[in-house]
Amino acid sequence: MIKLYDIDHVSLGVEDLDAAAHSWQVEFGLLERERENGRAYLACNYEPYSLVLEKTNTPGIQYAAYNLHPGFSLADAEKHLREHHVDYVRTDDAVAFTDPEGNGVRLVPYRRRAGQDVLPVASRQTSEIRPGGPRRLGHVNYLVADVDAMVDFYTTVVGQQLTDRLGSDAGAFLRVGADHHVNAFVNTGTPHFHHVAFDLVDFGQIRQSFDHLAQHGRWFPWGPVRHGIGGNLAGYVRLPEAECFVELYCDMEQIDDQHEPREFPDDRKSSNVWGMLPPRSYFRFDKETVEAERESLRAIWD
Ligand SMILES: [Fe+2]
Repeated sequence: MIKLYDIDHVSLGVEDLDAAAHSWQVEFGLLERERENGRAYLACNYEPYSLVLEKTNTPGIQYAAYNLHPGFSLADAEKHLREHHVDYVRTDDAVAFTDPEGNGVRLVPYRRRAGQDVLPVASRQTSEIRPGGPRRLGHVNYLVADVDAMVDFYTTVVGQQLTDRLGSDAGAFLRVGADHHVNAFVNTGTPHFHHVAFDLVDFGQIRQSFDHLAQHGRWFPWGPVRHGIGGNLAGYVRLPEAECFVELYCDMEQIDDQHEPREFPDDRKSSNVWGMLPPRSYFRFDKETVEAERESLRAIWD
């Protein structure tokens, strides 16, 4: 038995650490708190940090880290993993292992959710928080080959709870607290990390952020949309340098302890109540797809 408190941070590998750290600060509004040993630690708002950029020749997701609920130590996590016959590596501040499709997972000690320390965010004093950035890291999303195997692993081994399913095996959404999901899977048959998502205050801030990102040359293959599952208003920014998307969202459904998992039909409304399904490129990360998106933009704008 193990219990999680929240998603803690995500690590993305990038080839050019300086450029990536600059982008996340200037384009997305995060704050770089520290840089050491080829890693940049970035935070939303008052978070300690929620994004670790690692310099690497293999860009993309390195791992997602979840913090343990108070009362559960790293030693408890090790014992739990041994009981489930999961190979892991223990470091000073984490236990690290992989899920059935090869994605890195880490469990780290408890620390409070951003914005819940002592005072509400608006009541604090700061000399470093910038305007326009997200409030906090919200969730991660993976394209997977076997939804059931991933749900089984993340509920029994990692300690998440199933919130809802899309169809019988088209997708699944898992939570650790009140947010509808901190983790989601979409069955495309080919495993690949899809997106890391950050929570914004409202649609007004999304509008401001999308305009700002567009001015920095970013584009949005899908969105804004209103998801039927999760209820969040969202849009997806292509992040070619890390072979994934960044979702900026607000207004996610809040779930209580009495929730029973639902099965949403695998249809347009479950994906986007406003109507448009994502383009095929939304599920692709190869250079040809990214260049095709760039070319379509040039065809319109040049
Ligand atoms: Fe998402």
